[in-house]
Amino acid sequence: MTKIKAAITAVGAYVPEYVLTNQILETMVDTNDEWITTRTGIKERRILKEPGKGSSFLAIEAAKNLIEKTGLDPKTIDLVIVSTATPDMKAATTSAYTATQIGATNAFSFDLEAACSSFLFGMSVASSYIESGRYKKILLIGADKNSSMINYEDRATCIIFGDGGGAVLFEPNAEGFGLQDEFLKSDGIGREFLHAKYGGSAYPMTKEALEAGEHYVFQDGRTVFKNAVSSMADVSVKIMDRNNLNKDKIAWLVAHQANKRIIDATADRMELNRDKVMMNIDRYGNTTSATIPLLLSDYESKLKQGDNLIFASFGGGFTWGAIYLKWAYNS
Ligand code: UT7
Repeated sequence: MTKIKAAITAVGAYVPEYVLTNQILETMVDTNDEWITTRTGIKERRILKEPGKGSSFLAIEAAKNLIEKTGLDPKTIDLVIVSTATPDMKAATTSAYTATQIGATNAFSFDLEAACSSFLFGMSVASSYIESGRYKKILLIGADKNSSMINYEDRATCIIFGDGGGAVLFEPNAEGFGLQDEFLKSDGIGREFLHAKYGGSAYPMTKEALEAGEHYVFQDGRTVFKNAVSSMADVSVKIMDRNNLNKDKIAWLVAHQANKRIIDATADRMELNRDKVMMNIDRYGNTTSATIPLLLSDYESKLKQGDNLIFASFGGGFTWGAIYLKWAYNS
């Protein structure tokens, strides 16, 4: 009997309308388009401006896009996972609100947080539930309103991040398509180099911390960069090797969009031509949990059944990993 695999069977996405360009950033902090473009590959990012709208808004719109495209009946969804590093509120699950708003009234839901690896780790969780036979339709959403924790006076971080959401549906597949292998890692040494210190349980918010801006994202970019380059490439090459994949057998690299130079370095180690590397960092920046589903949405029409995809990510914590998935459909 063929082992059941977990396949992605649909994709949806949403980005806010407001476009924050490098030129606008030049008027806000001491930076310039040339520096941002050569160091990161980013030209613009989307920002969710409307007050009172959080990551759930991005998640809901991405899910609605998937539902409208496919005609999926939301009542048939068993589980909604929202991967996010920027939940709407503390102590109130963003996914529960999201599931209810999209009409997934028979689903249970939970949030999953692993910084920029949230979506990748969510793929592992969703796939495990499907492979076990316990659930048949799992909606995995990656959504982050990064602008909610960025200091727009800090040029080291404000040029990088954007807001967005993306969704995929996981379903059982008996023909061998879907998730084939994964290699996921974490290392707590990373928390020193990338975090938003105040506002969590270790350091609840104080008036002084708020005034000092210690609730904003801090990043030691150089250290994170160094770790990201080696770690993302290592796991990508490892998953290729242990599945007997070479550059010719891989159709696409689907890598977290944190910095074009990190993605290029990973592609180089995999010996992949750039026409096999999905890239949209120029338009959206780093949207944390949304980068991977936003790529799938942008490239969906180019994907063919049987394509070998390598997914890779690196993020705060540190958290990182790679997944090998065989694409299940032609659109
Ligand atoms: O997704 C989660 C994981 N995150 C990542 O993977 C991000 C990893 N890190 C990076 O992508 C890069 O480190 C950055 C894009 C954040 C920074 O690029 P970098 O090439 O590592 O620059 P740097 O921090 O080493 O700074 C180089 C110079 C410094 O000036 P000096 O000390 O050489 O005079 C900075 O002060 O560039 C300066 N600089 C800027 N200049 C213009 C830093 N930010 C800016 C800026 N505009 N926005």
